[in-house]
Amino acid sequence: MCVSLSWVKMTAVQVMWLPLLLLCITHARLSSSACVEVDSDTEAVAGKDFKLGCISCKMRGEVDASATVDWWFMAKGESDFTHIYSYSNMMGMVTDERFTGRIEWVGSKKTLDLQDGSLNILNVTYNDTGTYRCYFDRTLSFTYYEFRTNTTKFITINVVAKETRGMASILSEVMMYVSIIGLQLWLLVEMVYCYRKIAAAGEEALRESAAEYLAITSESKDNCTGVAVAE
Ligand SMILES: *[C@@H]1O[C@H](CO)[C@@H](O)[C@H](O)[C@H]1NC(C)=O
Ligand SMILES: *[C@@H]1O[C@H](CO)[C@@H](O)[C@H](O)[C@H]1NC(C)=O
Ligand SMILES: *[C@@H]1O[C@H](CO)[C@@H](O)[C@H](O)[C@H]1NC(C)=O
Repeated sequence: MCVSLSWVKMTAVQVMWLPLLLLCITHARLSSSACVEVDSDTEAVAGKDFKLGCISCKMRGEVDASATVDWWFMAKGESDFTHIYSYSNMMGMVTDERFTGRIEWVGSKKTLDLQDGSLNILNVTYNDTGTYRCYFDRTLSFTYYEFRTNTTKFITINVVAKETRGMASILSEVMMYVSIIGLQLWLLVEMVYCYRKIAAAGEEALRESAAEYLAITSESKDNCTGVAVAE
């Protein structure tokens, strides 16, 4: 009985470790140097900073390349994009007074081979609502020739007063706590049960071995006396 219970306990422990393991794996994937094109967030909070993400991975990782990044913005209600920022030769420049002093480069640093062209918009206002266009102009340098490619991404931002959390996110967090606490309680109950079982079995064994010991000692005494008598 207790053997099968301890197996169940082990699975419970494994289940509890699983989320941690998954976290480790995803974290390792993100922090490795491999380029992953992650979509930008689209909900900015007024008065806070907002990271406008734009990643364009080089298709041929082994080929040397250099790139420049440009950003355009079309405010909600407008019909044209305005150039707001450009980054080339490791230098960024804001070209729209609405964003003067409010744009921070958070993309690839200390390299001409840009793959991350993300920006931080500081002190977001409702006027920042609209669509942003991110443009990578990349030149791949092969041995005998150069190849020019470009990538464009659009990100539509909604500025809200306060961060809204999706119902699914709240629900999954609640479920996580419920399942963790539930598993811990269950584990505790199983442990107490098993412990009592083992303790009871142990006492039994102790009593048995004591009886056996007594039997052996009396037997060997008999033998000894037997030998003594024989002599
Ligand atoms: C952010 O903008 C508001 C007005 O929109 C201004 O009053 C405030 O000083 C700004 N804060 C910073 C840190 O720039
Ligand atoms: C937002 O835009 C309106 C109209 O273009 C302007 O009057 C207002 O000052 C702007 N607000 C901020 C915080 O930039
Ligand atoms: C971007 O690349 C396409 C080909 O993939 C080309 O037709 C287009 O002219 C390029 N755009 C610019 C602005 O260089």
